[in-house]
Amino acid sequence: QELELQLEMLEKGGYDHFMLKEIYEQPRSIRDCMRGRIYPEEGKVQLGGIKEFADKLKNIDRIIIVACGTSWHAGLVGEYLIEEYARIPVEVEYASEFRYRNPIITEKDVVIAISQSGETADTMAAIEMAKEKGATIFGVCNVVGASIPRITHAGVYTHAGPEIGVASTKAFTAQVTVLTLMAFYMAQQKGTISNSKLVELLTELDCIPDKIQVALQSNDIVKAISEKFKDSRNCLFLGRGSGFPVALEGALKLKEISYIHAEGYPAAEMKHGPIALIDEEMPVVVIATKNSSYEKVISNIQEVKARKGVVIAIVTEGDTEVKKMADYCIEIPDSSEAFLPLLATIPLQLLSYHIAVLRGCNVDQPRNLAKSVTVE
Ligand code: G6P
Repeated sequence: QELELQLEMLEKGGYDHFMLKEIYEQPRSIRDCMRGRIYPEEGKVQLGGIKEFADKLKNIDRIIIVACGTSWHAGLVGEYLIEEYARIPVEVEYASEFRYRNPIITEKDVVIAISQSGETADTMAAIEMAKEKGATIFGVCNVVGASIPRITHAGVYTHAGPEIGVASTKAFTAQVTVLTLMAFYMAQQKGTISNSKLVELLTELDCIPDKIQVALQSNDIVKAISEKFKDSRNCLFLGRGSGFPVALEGALKLKEISYIHAEGYPAAEMKHGPIALIDEEMPVVVIATKNSSYEKVISNIQEVKARKGVVIAIVTEGDTEVKKMADYCIEIPDSSEAFLPLLATIPLQLLSYHIAVLRGCNVDQPRNLAKSVTVE
């Protein structure tokens, strides 16, 4: 048994849990995910896995993204990016809902199925159905050779390496990275982006692993904040734009591993419901980085403060405005809006991790959850 324990310690690479190890692996896993796929100086993205369909991508009318859980959140980020850069309409669907509601699918559609494990039953069934109706199916999977990559027409692996923690961390950021690359690739094929813009974006993307390294330095602050909120019963996460899926993912992480009830909301929707819950007991985590919705988010923070809510804000390095209002601030490096989800997710992963550890929860194997859900 002693030997078994030592082996496990070795596998965890000196970290207390697989989840923490996987959180810290992200600079590397994202680098691995981009390797051989981006050429910043030339302003070029190459995705060998979907190369055959490069021409088809020029003329598609619509993309449907299907996924479950965390992968569905990555899909929502993908929607923002693909619509923004490639100007193709995107629908993001829970695989379980999609497969049972007789959706309209044609040969002109491209379906992107996102799955870490590549084994999720609902996602597989959604793929089979779309395939029968003639759609082209791309997979975005992590486990090489899993069932989903075998039934899709083409795909792009995330190459995040094995993920052991049941709550997905590095696989999520790798999925978001692949979808970012897909959005740029489609934009390049369709000519909806200039080469100089791609040079600029890819040069920045190339530095994202280093920025994630910097974002990880928030660990001590996040841990101290976690001490304050470990006994909370509820928590609200707010974001706008691509900060909204980040809020959803932050809430899911917290609920999965700490069993604290948490909800993610688009910040502006707060006034249509969740605002009723806000009092001095209610922590509200707000993605308040400097981007196009910054001013709007600031007014949402004021609304929370006016009701005595406790605000934990994720802010851009050097921010002064939010700092005047929020109770706690966690800084992340500045970046273009396109890469915000990759950076803002990091402190939220750490927050859920520390809160769960402080509550004595089984972080790597939360109750009632499975790493891959192969039954419906
Ligand atoms: C389970 C896991 C989640 C995961 C979801 C979808 O619920 O616990 O972490 O996001 O399944 O899994 P997939 O492998 O398809 O991404």
